[in-house]
Amino acid sequence: MTATNIEAVPLEATRTQALEEIGACADLAALAELQRKYLGKSGVLAGWLARLPTLPPAERPQLGQAVNRLKKELTEQIAARESALERALQESALGGSFDPSLPPAREERGTLHPVTQVTREIEDLFVSMGYQIADGPEIETDWHNFEALNIPPDHPARDSQDTFYLRGAGRLLLRTHTSPVQVRALERLKPPLRVIAPGKVFRNEATDASHEHTFHQLEGLVVDKGVSVAHLVSSMKTLLRGIFRRDLEIRLRPGFFPFVEPGFELDARCPFCTTGCSVCKQSRWIELLPCGLVHPNVLSASGVDPNEWSGFAFGLGLSRLVMLRFGITDVRLLLSGDLRFLEQF
Ligand code: DAH
Repeated sequence: MTATNIEAVPLEATRTQALEEIGACADLAALAELQRKYLGKSGVLAGWLARLPTLPPAERPQLGQAVNRLKKELTEQIAARESALERALQESALGGSFDPSLPPAREERGTLHPVTQVTREIEDLFVSMGYQIADGPEIETDWHNFEALNIPPDHPARDSQDTFYLRGAGRLLLRTHTSPVQVRALERLKPPLRVIAPGKVFRNEATDASHEHTFHQLEGLVVDKGVSVAHLVSSMKTLLRGIFRRDLEIRLRPGFFPFVEPGFELDARCPFCTTGCSVCKQSRWIELLPCGLVHPNVLSASGVDPNEWSGFAFGLGLSRLVMLRFGITDVRLLLSGDLRFLEQF
C-alpha cells in the first residue's frame, strides 16, 4: 500500500457522505447548498486539491485524478437529484400525477345544425346558378307578409296561416312564411333578379311530431322577361338533383296560393323506395314544394310592371326537407337544443 491509499480512505469517506446527503436532500435550495459545500470554490473537494502540494510529487497525480473523478460523479448526482426534485414539484403543482406521454383529453367538438347544413348546401347550389341570397326581418308588417302578396285583410287564405300578432303600434306580426322576402327583394333589387331566402317562420299552432310553432322555409324568386313554367320546372329539377344527388321524376298538381297564378304543388318520385314506403305513405310520390308563376298583382304591388316582367316563385319547407334527408321523425327535435340529438350530425 502506498501513502496515496492512506489518503484515499478519507476521500472515500467524503464520497460516501456526499452521496448520502445528496440522496436524502429534499429541496432545491438545500441541494444548491450541498453543491457549494462539496464543489464550491472553497468546498470540500477544493480542500482536497489544496492539499496536493503537501504530498510527495509521485503521489499527487493519483490523488488529483481521484478528486476529479469524484467531482464528476458528484456533479452528475446533484444534477440527477435536481431534475428528480423539479419533476416532483411539477407533479404536485398539477395535482398529483403528470404523465406527459398520455394522449390529450378528448376535445368536444360542436357540429353544424342539420338545418344549417342543408341550408348551406342549397345556398351553394343556387349561388352557382346566379341567385343572390336575400334576407328579411322575422318581425314583419302586415303589408309584406300578406297584402303585397295578394292576400287582402279578409282573404280566407289568412286562415291557413295562424299568425302571431305583436301587441302595440302597427300591425306587426311574426312572419308566417318566407314569401315576404319576395316583396322586399322586388322593392329593393328590381328585376331581372334571382333570389333565395332561407329563414325562420312562425305559426300559432298546436305542436306535435309534424307541427312546430317555429320552423324553416326557403323561398325562391326569379323575375325576368318571358319566364315560364318550363323555367320553373327545370330549376326545380336542378334543385332536386342537388338535394337527392340524382334525377327524380316530378309532377305538378294544381295548388292555390294567392301570390301565384297558376300555382302548383310539385311532387317528386320518392327517393327512398321503388315500391312504396312509410315516407311516401305507399304513394311513390313525395310532396316537395308549392310553387307557381308570380301573380301580376304581386309584381304591381312592388312597382314592377307585369306587362314587362314575369317570374316564378317557390316555397321549400326546409324543416321538412331536413327531416326527409336525415330520417328525423319529430320536427320538434330540430329546435329542442337536445345535444343527444344534435351530436348525431
Ligand atoms: N308561402 C307559402 C306558405 O308558406 C308557400 C309558397 C307557396 C311559397 C307557393 C311560394 C309559392 O313561393 O309560390 O304556405
